[in-house]
Amino acid sequence: MSHRKNILTGDRPTGRLHLGHYVGSLAARVKLQDQYRQFVMLADLQALTDHAHEPQKIRESIREVMLDYLAVGIDPKKTTIFIQSLVPALPELTMYFLNLITWNRLKHNPTVKLEIQQKGFGEEVPAGFMVYPASQAADIAAFKAHVVPVGDDQLPMIELCCEIVRKFNRLYKTDVLIEPEIYTSQVARLPGIDGKAKMSKSLNNAIYLSDTADEVMKKVKSMYTDPNHLRVEDPGKVEGNPVFTYLDAFAPDKAKVEEMKAHYQRGGLGDSVVKKYLLEVLQAFLEPIRARRTEFAKDSKHVMDVVMQGTHVAREFAHGTLLEVRKAMGIDYV
Ligand code: TRP
Repeated sequence: MSHRKNILTGDRPTGRLHLGHYVGSLAARVKLQDQYRQFVMLADLQALTDHAHEPQKIRESIREVMLDYLAVGIDPKKTTIFIQSLVPALPELTMYFLNLITWNRLKHNPTVKLEIQQKGFGEEVPAGFMVYPASQAADIAAFKAHVVPVGDDQLPMIELCCEIVRKFNRLYKTDVLIEPEIYTSQVARLPGIDGKAKMSKSLNNAIYLSDTADEVMKKVKSMYTDPNHLRVEDPGKVEGNPVFTYLDAFAPDKAKVEEMKAHYQRGGLGDSVVKKYLLEVLQAFLEPIRARRTEFAKDSKHVMDVVMQGTHVAREFAHGTLLEVRKAMGIDYV
């Protein structure tokens, strides 16, 4: 057994991953896999809470997301990648956890409230969706994650997990479950190419890791910039200008970016010149990812073998935790 601390994150497989995912979590996972015992979960059960009508899409996305993971350098030798729905301990632990939080607490979860609004559920919120924070707490607890690296939109989820774990350990006079720490990456979330606060599939403003060179070019050309920067000689704004936010995130030559920002703010630097540089930077970043993705895509069987092997390991681990949980609760009948 390794003495490294555990770490768990995951994604809902509802489509391919984009640059926002990279900045928000994929880059951290590639780094953290050398320091932690890392689990990465394809959260298909969670995806079903708002995609029950499209299981086929989830199924296809599992392969796509796997390809994205492998292409960016999440290494199955270091990271256990697995499918949530194939780990029966997770829904079992969710059921125990649901008795340790109030309905009121779930109703007022800020992330859930925001999502209900964004998805336009109105009064028709699936019950499974309302309780997914308990399921997410179970994911974290079952893998004894010490650290959960997530974006700031997920903070209420981790807080709730801590609360449930504390309650469990107190109530059953045990220390089998671990209260996780939050790890947030220093990089702010990536805006969309339309300048909206968040890059997201549903807003149709994303550059995907698997976009072709041509698609990336079209998207960069169409990017929102400072709307008041009409003539080249006008001074322009770099704050809230996604072209510069992307350069900050992806350009290796920081000095050049600072120089361009100063020039843009003074006036005399056209949007097309900045976009041309951004396109170079993004193509250089994406090209090797795209190449590796194409390579992995040639062997779908290998990709599915990797995730099934990871799932086997994950299933054993979570089962071990569940035995401890049942014992602590005194429901270890046999
Ligand atoms: N909620 C995450 C998302 O929407 C996915 C997720 C499920 C997750 N379980 C998790 C993230 C546990 C971190 C830890 O993408």
